[in-house]
Amino acid sequence: MPTNLPDLSFETLKILPLARAETIPSSWYVDEGFHRLDRRLLFSDSWQYVGPASDLAEEGAYRADTVAGEPIVVVRDKENRLRAWYNVCRHRGGPLVTDTCGTARMLQCKYHGWTYKLDGSLRGVPRFDRTDLFDKRDFGLTPLQVTEWQGMVFVNLGRGGSIEETVRGITDRIAPLDLSQMRFERRDLYDVACNWKVYVDNYLEGYHLPIVHPELCDLLDYRNYVTETYPTYSLQYSPLQEGDNIYGTPSGDAFYYFVFPNLMLNILPHRLQVNRIVPVTRDRCRVIFDYYYVRGTDASMIKDDAEFSDRVQMEDVEICEHVQRGLESRAYDQGRFSADAEPGVYHFQCMLKAAYRTALEETTVDRA
Ligand code: FES
Ligand SMILES: [Fe+2]
Repeated sequence: MPTNLPDLSFETLKILPLARAETIPSSWYVDEGFHRLDRRLLFSDSWQYVGPASDLAEEGAYRADTVAGEPIVVVRDKENRLRAWYNVCRHRGGPLVTDTCGTARMLQCKYHGWTYKLDGSLRGVPRFDRTDLFDKRDFGLTPLQVTEWQGMVFVNLGRGGSIEETVRGITDRIAPLDLSQMRFERRDLYDVACNWKVYVDNYLEGYHLPIVHPELCDLLDYRNYVTETYPTYSLQYSPLQEGDNIYGTPSGDAFYYFVFPNLMLNILPHRLQVNRIVPVTRDRCRVIFDYYYVRGTDASMIKDDAEFSDRVQMEDVEICEHVQRGLESRAYDQGRFSADAEPGVYHFQCMLKAAYRTALEETTVDRA
């Protein structure tokens, strides 16, 4: 656990009831030390969404990614199991794959050509005959936890544990909707000039809807917008307005799940949109949008959905980038919550405080 913690005290980590609580300090969104802490504490020890399992269905299919700043690769092996490793060769750190996805019979390092089998063991080592005391068995790839849930692939750089514990209750809650029946359609990427927590905060409240997204607001039954909180995630829930809308559904429910620390599952009657928020620097994040649809969904509806989501996303990007500038200002440090409209943001910030507290306690014990 980190020993070089940014400026943290048990006082700032205290959790007060929502109606009396303050928002987290602005330094948590702007300081380099918090960016490093988040990577090591939150993103290195949680299930991180990688992509659709359907892309990794065939033997040798792989997908590369960056998780907590670490290059990783996920592969379907010869026994039809998913495997994941750091995308780092054991010779001198070269990459095994340099593209995002593809298919390979084995993994060959792009530097000096060491080859690894799909089980991660080292197979071919050119020109090593005269190297002493070298055993290939000591130089297999460094493995990571990988799992599949509802047709989606996740990796975990830390201890792992079951993903079911993290998402417990979600599939039952949305039934009869069945995420595993949805088919991956497309991926969009957005680079946003804000700390990842600004983007998450913004996602977790409908308070800004009437001002920032008037068009979206008309689609949702805004008065019945509800936030429910659970130990590892929160749910914003809204019945869709009756009548024609771009979703082509006269009625139904919209579920907006946020799974700590950075996964969003936006579920409508016939589509799932997965967002993963990737911290890039202290003031930049990348947002992955993956779209899945129920088989047979009309192509024009898919197009309309993507265009509408993109408009809403651009509205969010613009406001989040303004907020980052506000948080960087000397004029601002902490604010207060609407107890009515911001329980989701409060819940996220409490989870963040709990995680930081664990890090601080461990450091305090180390120092004792
Ligand atoms: S770094 Fe991979 S073969 Fe040299
Ligand atoms: Fe928004």
